[in-house]
Amino acid sequence: MSCVHVAAQGLIMVENVCVKYPEGSNGTTQLRLDKDCYIPRLFTLTEACHRQGALMGIQINHAGASAMSSRIGMQPVSASFSVKAGGEIPRGLSKEEIASIAKDYGTAAKRAVNAGFDVVEIHAGHSYLISQFLSPTTNDRTDEFGGSENRARFCRMVIDEVRKAVGPRVPISLRLSVDELVEGGNTVEDCLEYLEYLNDEVDIFDTSAGLNASIQYQIDANYLEDGWRSYMAKAVRDKFGKPTIAIGNIRDPKIADDILARGDADLIGMGRGLIADPDWCNKAQYGDVCDIRKCISCNVGCVGNRIGGNKTTSLYNQPGSDQRRSL
Ligand SMILES: Cc1cc2nc3c(=O)[nH]c(=O)nc-3n(C[C@H](O)[C@H](O)[C@H](O)COP(=O)(O)O)c2cc1C
Repeated sequence: MSCVHVAAQGLIMVENVCVKYPEGSNGTTQLRLDKDCYIPRLFTLTEACHRQGALMGIQINHAGASAMSSRIGMQPVSASFSVKAGGEIPRGLSKEEIASIAKDYGTAAKRAVNAGFDVVEIHAGHSYLISQFLSPTTNDRTDEFGGSENRARFCRMVIDEVRKAVGPRVPISLRLSVDELVEGGNTVEDCLEYLEYLNDEVDIFDTSAGLNASIQYQIDANYLEDGWRSYMAKAVRDKFGKPTIAIGNIRDPKIADDILARGDADLIGMGRGLIADPDWCNKAQYGDVCDIRKCISCNVGCVGNRIGGNKTTSLYNQPGSDQRRSL
């Protein structure tokens, strides 16, 4: 869930949707794109948003070892390891399964375009399946999908399948954990290196950070400064010269302006700020900055309810929600 504000026009990015059900599923409230029957209602959504002048993107995803066997009814799959210390042990995917899942991303992307989405975003960060392949902390394979030269191969296969499915005119965005911020994980330098192999069919880099073990940097804790991680966007933008999104605790329009003015990024992403105040962008655009109800990064109503409590996001804590996760 995030929204990118592009001058007078916004790009609304629908949060990660499932490309393969149930094993790729990431929770009980998740949208799906693994079947055609989901196209009509998503088309209703894109039409409604297009009518209001927004562009629409959707993030396609397979959860891999971030799925829970109690929900999906089977052992989760992955590159090799668990994504949480002491978490469920996943089953390593066979080469045939890897190829088949890459195709599932392509088919889901095609459905997204049929449903009226303007941008397809591949989720390659945040300890989901592609990230599990990319990170040395979750991939110790010894075949052509493991080792420093090969960990990006699955991601490349997904990008190629998506490009084949959507054609040359639909922008592909790649969401990344640019710095995984865990011991032994990919650093900014590692990311810049593997992106050399991934970048040619990517139109937009959506630069996130962190894995499950560093969630405080992924859904930024309140003590982290506004816009603290735009240096990651800058590193990717400087190297590849493509439109790049910065995100993370960008709570004040002045900070967003500064990031753009410095040339750290071309686009500003925002998640929780738009839950706290859905009119954030309009207020920033029309100068009503004092009226913005700013996010305080408390992670109570949003993450606490949606991820911790397994129900819908709201502004408030709902009974039974895990209030602050482990931030
Ligand atoms: C309730 C909730 C759901 C989220 N879902 C996704 C998601 O599906 N995909 C994703 O890449 N990031 C997801 N995120 C992370 C946000 O997109 C964003 O990167 C993070 O919250 C930091 O930005 P912010 O400070 O503007 O919220 C989610 C965050 C929250 C709070």
